[in-house]
Amino acid sequence: MIGLIETTSELRSWEEAQRLATALVNQMSLEQKVNITTGLGVGHARCVGSTSPVTNPDFPSLCLQNGPLGMAPAFNVTLGVAGINAAASFDRKAILDRGIYMGQEFYEKGVHVQLGPAMNFMRSPEGGRGWESFGEDPYLSGVASYETITGIQSQGVIATAKHFIANDQEKNRNEESSNIDDRTMHEIYLWPFARAVDAGVGSVMCSYNKVNGTSACENDMMNRVLRDQLGFQGFIQTDWWAAMETIQSPNNGLDMVMPGNRDPKDNFSPSYFGQDLVNAVKNGKVSESTVTDMAHRIVSAWYKMGQDKNFPNSSINVLDMTPLGSINVEADHKTKVRELGAASVVILSNQDDILPLSESNNNISIIGSDAFSDPLLFNVLKCANFGCDPATLVQGWGSGAVMFPSYIVPPVDGIQARAGKNVKFQTTHDNWNLDEAKKVAQASDIAIVFANSDSGEEYITVDGNAGDRNNLTLWNNGDNLIQTVADANKNTIVVIHSVGPILMPWINHPNIKAVVWPGLPGQESGNSLADVLYGDVNPSGRLPYTIAKNQEDYAAAATSDLEIDYSEKLNIGYRWFDAKNIEPLFPFGHGLSYTKFDYGSLKVKSNSKKNQVNAQLDIQNTGEADGAEIVQLYLSFPESAGEPPKVLRGFEKVFVKSGHKETVCFELTKTELSIWDVASQSWVIPHGQFQIHVGASSRDLRQTSSFTL
Ligand code: BGC
Repeated sequence: MIGLIETTSELRSWEEAQRLATALVNQMSLEQKVNITTGLGVGHARCVGSTSPVTNPDFPSLCLQNGPLGMAPAFNVTLGVAGINAAASFDRKAILDRGIYMGQEFYEKGVHVQLGPAMNFMRSPEGGRGWESFGEDPYLSGVASYETITGIQSQGVIATAKHFIANDQEKNRNEESSNIDDRTMHEIYLWPFARAVDAGVGSVMCSYNKVNGTSACENDMMNRVLRDQLGFQGFIQTDWWAAMETIQSPNNGLDMVMPGNRDPKDNFSPSYFGQDLVNAVKNGKVSESTVTDMAHRIVSAWYKMGQDKNFPNSSINVLDMTPLGSINVEADHKTKVRELGAASVVILSNQDDILPLSESNNNISIIGSDAFSDPLLFNVLKCANFGCDPATLVQGWGSGAVMFPSYIVPPVDGIQARAGKNVKFQTTHDNWNLDEAKKVAQASDIAIVFANSDSGEEYITVDGNAGDRNNLTLWNNGDNLIQTVADANKNTIVVIHSVGPILMPWINHPNIKAVVWPGLPGQESGNSLADVLYGDVNPSGRLPYTIAKNQEDYAAAATSDLEIDYSEKLNIGYRWFDAKNIEPLFPFGHGLSYTKFDYGSLKVKSNSKKNQVNAQLDIQNTGEADGAEIVQLYLSFPESAGEPPKVLRGFEKVFVKSGHKETVCFELTKTELSIWDVASQSWVIPHGQFQIHVGASSRDLRQTSSFTL
């Protein structure tokens, strides 16, 4: 294993990196500068994206590789938890650790640029790629983006904040225009990108869609907002084939075209940059100083991450996808995957304390294809980019899907290993043989029934779903299977692996004692699930999105309209349910524990001169098990501010031993206290009375206190 390089604190400052970049780029000809900005093209690049190398002065071909949850495509890498699970942990430190181990793997394989994290929103539950990102709340997404990027870049790898911006569904992603007013854009969709810039992100990827009528990759938002307002110092690359032309985009801030060839169907088609950009400069359509700035920004990010110092040679070769000679970079990262997998399991319901399971539960049935593995999962031809759903679901499909390592732990294996030899197990994996499911369920004391729901990127269609989900029902006969098992066994536990919310027509069945939501847990799926089912880990995962009673309850749906008006404005996710007084089935932030927590009285101090508010309270573990609580802070703005009823503005994961208490402190600064003022084009703190609510979910508020600014 190659030793790790410096951590973030030792990374160069942007100023230092830019000084070094100026010295290098000043020696380059126009053609050399353009080369740095231009992809080699599919069929010519050894990585998912590779830039053209430059010699004398020397600058290497940069290797850009997917994706947000690990390296893809590549052999001998870790298939970790999806972004949506990272968010469900509400655990800053664990999200940072995830970024660090991903960064290590990219560094050791010689990948300069990781194409992640994904930071789009689960604006509608059907959105095909919502699982790659961090859910429906800007604050949560902002924290998760910040920590992920900090972790990746601490290992000397450039992170990519993607997709800029408002690429929140797959339907017509190349044609649709996401139409968003200025305030909503700032307070919701830009928020995680602002946090990415705070983390010093090296690259941003502009998206396929249009924004308010203009293609995202030609949009002057790239310069005006991203650079001037947020202070972004790195380079902007296109999504693959998202470039449309040669002149507008560089003039509006685009720095790099990927993958290079302009026509996806022709590997030899020229780039919109390359010779065309050289000509545009010669014809006076693009100034040479613009091209100098573009090259400078790319070279600066490279220097900032210290990639000039013994960066490993890239060992990626997508032109020859064989495992031969592939270095193994997995180290012990599976431990982290298991820990984060367990930390992101959400217990939605748990009646009669059926969970955690105990030694006395010695006759268990495990039912449903989602509990099992299947050779098809490992078949990179028949299940390319994970575009298949024959067995347990550990990630969605598309460019962000990691190839399977040599193993995955399906739930059945994880549970049986933890239960030990004295427990009798009966299983069936045929979701359509309901008679068999009934027989197996009847013959056991506890029946654990599994089902899933999948989605992904639009270039693959699975079971008629072209990226976005066609509906929110379970796949593979899941609802009938659950109903059958529940009819047959009075101790039914339902486990759902899903990319996002589903409908639960069986939720009130009296025999369903628990609903467990492990999301998309990656390769250690069965182990992390067993850790929670048996109480080795006390669950603390929380929903990063709202689960509604009806599909129509959501603020937005994935649509085939080409003009998508974000008419819910600030009321994305739970804010909509609050504003419209709709009762969700399971609210944002919900998740149960095997212990109980008492919330002590909330003390709030405000300092309007410093634009600072501090809140503090004690959390007491009054139950029998040690465990962690996710303490959530929601802010209600003065009514005149025109904000949703409440918005998440803080959370802390606090571990409290049984019978003990811990103090939790929050600090709100100008960032958390402001709204975007369109007239002055600035962030302002509204005057008046605010309220702070602290609670265990967005609908389980335990303490409220007010302050005036
Ligand atoms: C996706 C990006 C990805 C790129 C390269 C595109 O289809 O939208 O997220 O990084 O492909 O594979």
